[in-house]
Amino acid sequence: MPVSLIVLAAGQGTRMQSDRPKVLHELAGVPMFVHALASGRGLDVARTVLVAGHGFEAVEKAARAQDDDIVVARQGEQRGTAHAVAQAAEALAGVAGDAVVLYGDTPFIRPETLEAMAAARAEGADVVVLGFDAADPGRYGRLVVEAGALTRIVEFKDATEAERAIGFCNSGVVMAEASVLFDLVAAVGNDNAAGEYYLTDIVEIARARGLASTAVRCDEAETLGINTRAELARAEALFQDRARAEALGDGVTLIAPETVFFAQDTVVGRDAVIEPNVVFGPGVTVETGARIRAFCHLEGCHVSRDAVVGPYARLRPGAELAEGAKVGNFVEIKQAEIAAGAKVNHLSYIGDAFVGENANVGAGTITCNYDGVFKHHSHIGAHSFIGSNTMLVAPVSIGDGAMTATGTVVTRNVPAGAMAVGRARMDIKDGFWTRMYEKLKARKVRQDK
Ligand code: UD1
Ligand code: CA
Repeated sequence: MPVSLIVLAAGQGTRMQSDRPKVLHELAGVPMFVHALASGRGLDVARTVLVAGHGFEAVEKAARAQDDDIVVARQGEQRGTAHAVAQAAEALAGVAGDAVVLYGDTPFIRPETLEAMAAARAEGADVVVLGFDAADPGRYGRLVVEAGALTRIVEFKDATEAERAIGFCNSGVVMAEASVLFDLVAAVGNDNAAGEYYLTDIVEIARARGLASTAVRCDEAETLGINTRAELARAEALFQDRARAEALGDGVTLIAPETVFFAQDTVVGRDAVIEPNVVFGPGVTVETGARIRAFCHLEGCHVSRDAVVGPYARLRPGAELAEGAKVGNFVEIKQAEIAAGAKVNHLSYIGDAFVGENANVGAGTITCNYDGVFKHHSHIGAHSFIGSNTMLVAPVSIGDGAMTATGTVVTRNVPAGAMAVGRARMDIKDGFWTRMYEKLKARKVRQDK
């Protein structure tokens, strides 16, 4: 059954004390709302609608950056969770299948949990609500279950003493057939303590219409919501703990797990070794047997089998390291392919470039890729030998098996097998320094008197 995702993200997040909308604050290297989208990865997702309000333009831009297919619906005024869901109706008109309501500030719902909700739908429940047994039920909405059926959800503010004693709480996540969900939501009123349109009211409305509701239970940890910077920091710590445990479980060596930081989508292969103090930004794949040495920062890159990176290397978006490539200390690679067995070992910047198989790029080599307006490409042929401190003024190409002498500023293409030499001429002046040094010393003696 196809399922559309409706992610509520219109709230301001006042307690973040921030000019940015809450759902754009980053968790594991990506905006918080991206985690809610990832919760749906086990479903057959038909369409994704993000309901935004505060900071609409910024949220829309971030959604675009993630995935062009996300529809961002506007909720002009925050009049309650049912009102928020109603804003997704237009975007889902004519989309067959179910819809599940998720929250941009609730990042840890497991895909398996949503699959369990889909299974409950398949077993015949019209409305499926996700609940949890709260250690401290506090101000959560309470799920009223009678004879195995969910009969209503009561908000804390509107609950009686007896209802407040219920420990089974509402996570807010709801699944139903999309058209049914919107029909129910349209019938919700705002006659309650907060004067808001409560999504939770749909359970009672469904019951009055002869539709059955059921609650699926998850661990409280999954429903953790983020409202403050402290909660964001705690969520980050939780995410990292799990990501480290998962990596170790998958056969990755982490020498000091607590110092390695993963992004939401980091993929590391079996038998890879990650040394201490490594930070992964989004979009990184490290294949089996590769080694990321200490103090590296990687984002948007691919490190193939048996490649070695670092210590102290930075791989930026578009860095593609083939098998056995070596990128050493204080090297930055951006939008560049380093072919199999090639080495860029010391103090280099390689950007918008191709480095061919088994090429050796000497210390301090720089691709001068930017003219202030445009970026240009550098090609370094297979088996070439680039002397230390070569400046490649792009666009430029070094042929296969060519070499550049130390300190050469390469401004023209170098044919295969050729040598390029282009550096300041050096003179030797016999005895010059000895005479100069004596004069300087004599002057100092006179001054000191
Ligand atoms: C809601 C539930 C409550 C549940 C709790 C779990 C309702 C009425 N109550 O209460 O039963 O226990 O979540 O955390 O649903 N939002 C919008 N637009 C709005 C209102 C809210 O986008 O007009 C978004 C908020 O940004 C937030 C989420 O929906 O991410 C939940 O809204 P919030 O007002 O925090 O609901 P709670 O009072 O916590
Ligand atoms: Ca809340």
